[in-house]
Amino acid sequence: YETFMEKEIAEQPFVIKETLRSRIEDHILMPELDDLAMEDIHAIYMIACGTAYHASLYAQYLGREWLSIPIQCVPASEFRYGNYPVDEHSLCLFVSQSGETADTLAALKACKKKNAKTIAVCNVLDSSISRIADTTLYTCAGPEIAVASTKAYTTQLTLLACIMLKLAELAKVEVNGYDQLLHDLKALPETIESMLGMEAQMKGYASFLKEQQDAYFIGRQLDYVSVLEGALKLKEISYVHADAYYAGELKHGPIALIEEGTVVIALATQKDVASKTISNIEETIARGANVILIKAKGVHSDKIAHQIEIPDIHPYLACLPATILLQQFALWSAKEKGCNVDQPRNLAKSVTVE
Ligand code: G6P
Repeated sequence: YETFMEKEIAEQPFVIKETLRSRIEDHILMPELDDLAMEDIHAIYMIACGTAYHASLYAQYLGREWLSIPIQCVPASEFRYGNYPVDEHSLCLFVSQSGETADTLAALKACKKKNAKTIAVCNVLDSSISRIADTTLYTCAGPEIAVASTKAYTTQLTLLACIMLKLAELAKVEVNGYDQLLHDLKALPETIESMLGMEAQMKGYASFLKEQQDAYFIGRQLDYVSVLEGALKLKEISYVHADAYYAGELKHGPIALIEEGTVVIALATQKDVASKTISNIEETIARGANVILIKAKGVHSDKIAHQIEIPDIHPYLACLPATILLQQFALWSAKEKGCNVDQPRNLAKSVTVE
């Protein structure tokens, strides 16, 4: 591979498989959490930075769907200086690839002081966060060298889906479509492998940014998590100004930025809100936007010239294949612009100082 980022994108089927190893039978196997008394938990906090924060937003969404406990996701840099009512009835989940991020570590220490129950999701064995948390669950992404996170993120999504299913089980909640979810989780390595074959199409779309300084990402519900991560990836490595918006919020401001040729990357993988997103997209097309649509099967609009379909998958897992496409889009945009893909300016792999 020319760059570590390309290597790490390509490794995703394997590292997702490793992360799922021994975790799924006819239910989720997570003995680390068996003793967690969900009846004592009154609030859940998800705390992380950067890409890991986006993974936490994903878990928050699932938690809101399945649990009747209030669940809040907060960037660690905000959490540590905010006044959150954490106590011994709080469950605090920290997500960190490196396990060394200063803000996340400080937030973890503060939660421990308040006697909260703490769980870490880390990629690096024996890292500071993994040593301090009550329980650590590991992603098996292996060393991630490129500053822009790819395989660490998708393994976080995978493990967090399992964790939230486990919490639902511990809380005695019946999850709708549980068997389908388990089936599609197990099949993730093959699904992701098939996405790697779509690179040529994303590479073609990346050339749309040749003359552009801005890109807007839009989506609703879980697609909003994916567009946040897609925009972050693009700005990190290509220096294109990229923003992510809830599709429904476009009319409250961002649509003023759309003009002839503006690149809009839209996601419509969540079928129950896809028609709403399609009409938002059509509003941008009417103002000259050049739209790329990443969509689920069955979602369609004749007005969108560039469409790419993800394989059939449970909507709660659709962000995994969609994210692969967004990673490829960012990668090829950066390569076309001649940027240093692995070592973007001003960024560090692990931010161990405030
Ligand atoms: C840095 C990295 C990001 C990462 C974030 C959190 O900003 O460049 O890729 O998401 O730190 O790092 P962590 O190791 O805690 O996941």
